[in-house]
Amino acid sequence: MTMSVLGALATPLLQRLPPETAHRAAIAALKYAPFTSSAHSPAGLALRAFDLDFPNPIGMAAGFDKSAEAAPSLLALGFGFVEVGTLTPRPQKGNSSPRLFRLPADGALINRMGFNNDGYVAAQARLAARPAKGIVGVNFGPNRDAADRLADFVAGVEAFAPYASYFTINVSSPNTPGLRDLQQREAFDELVARVAVARETAQPRRPLLIKIAPDLDLHALDDIVDVCVSRGVDGVIVANTTIARPSSLRDLQVREAGGLSGRPLFAPSTRMLAQAYLRCGGALTLIGAGGVENAETALAKIEAGATLVQLYTGLIYRGPRLIGEILDGLAKAAPTPGDLAKLVGARAREWAAAD
Ligand SMILES: Cc1cc2nc3c(=O)[nH]c(=O)nc-3n(C[C@H](O)[C@H](O)[C@H](O)COP(=O)(O)O)c2cc1C
Repeated sequence: MTMSVLGALATPLLQRLPPETAHRAAIAALKYAPFTSSAHSPAGLALRAFDLDFPNPIGMAAGFDKSAEAAPSLLALGFGFVEVGTLTPRPQKGNSSPRLFRLPADGALINRMGFNNDGYVAAQARLAARPAKGIVGVNFGPNRDAADRLADFVAGVEAFAPYASYFTINVSSPNTPGLRDLQQREAFDELVARVAVARETAQPRRPLLIKIAPDLDLHALDDIVDVCVSRGVDGVIVANTTIARPSSLRDLQVREAGGLSGRPLFAPSTRMLAQAYLRCGGALTLIGAGGVENAETALAKIEAGATLVQLYTGLIYRGPRLIGEILDGLAKAAPTPGDLAKLVGARAREWAAAD
């Protein structure tokens, strides 16, 4: 049932609606769809990471279910985990519309949503009411007009400790002015130090992840990995959307400001993932995101160093059937439990050197 309602996610009709209207319709369909039966994950794809048991490594990336309205239905579609958010302490409207653009010729989206979301309290209530089963991470960030941005992150740890399978600190959205500056070494160290203390105090203790931009240079990546390892961060998500506009883009919407996601992000974000993998020597668990649109691109993320994979834009163009297709393809590469772990980072050197 869930699948039939959600097959609508990628129908020609939905594709003809303005992108944000289509997104609202998809969230509404998911929210009110029954989610009694969970899709079955191939046995070889189960894995343990962050002390959590994932049925498979493919996750819904942050930004699709910003206000935690649809996590159980997304899990029922077959995702191995769902990341809700980005949530901010107070509800906020985000930037003015239009702020989401399709670039079909490039398999891409540009968004400048600006953290539109219902705020911590509404999301807490929804997460408290959800069935206990399934891994749901919570991604949070500061309000645009926050007096103390670091305090907004600390409040996120305190607010979501009872409900989040893991926390993601989002310092990489291009649509909140100044947010990405928190990736600079001193500011980043101060942020991570404060958040790390908060998560030791909050009950229960949850895994702590950082989500980074694909536009960092390699020195900045060195600093991020150093700080994460020394402050006891558990994982890094590589990467958020890019502010770059590769010259290969054909769609006229390329002129829109915001973060670019989808196919043009695949190569640069996979290279950065491999660079992160080679720097952290297994001390951090990596999640690969950016341009995953089939089993090959998902497998490439794993071989570049990702233990887990997330996607967003691929789902918009391909619809929910994409999830099963990726799981089937990965199951061929990893038929028995433990096979997948052996592939993690197997081609990191090649990816790190790729042009
Ligand atoms: C419309 C849209 C909104 C997004 N909002 C968020 C967000 O609120 N927080 C976040 O961490 N990432 C956000 N992202 C980034 C995605 O989580 C993901 O990192 C990025 O899109 C790359 O994956 P993809 O190429 O599979 O889309 C957003 C992406 C899109 C397309």
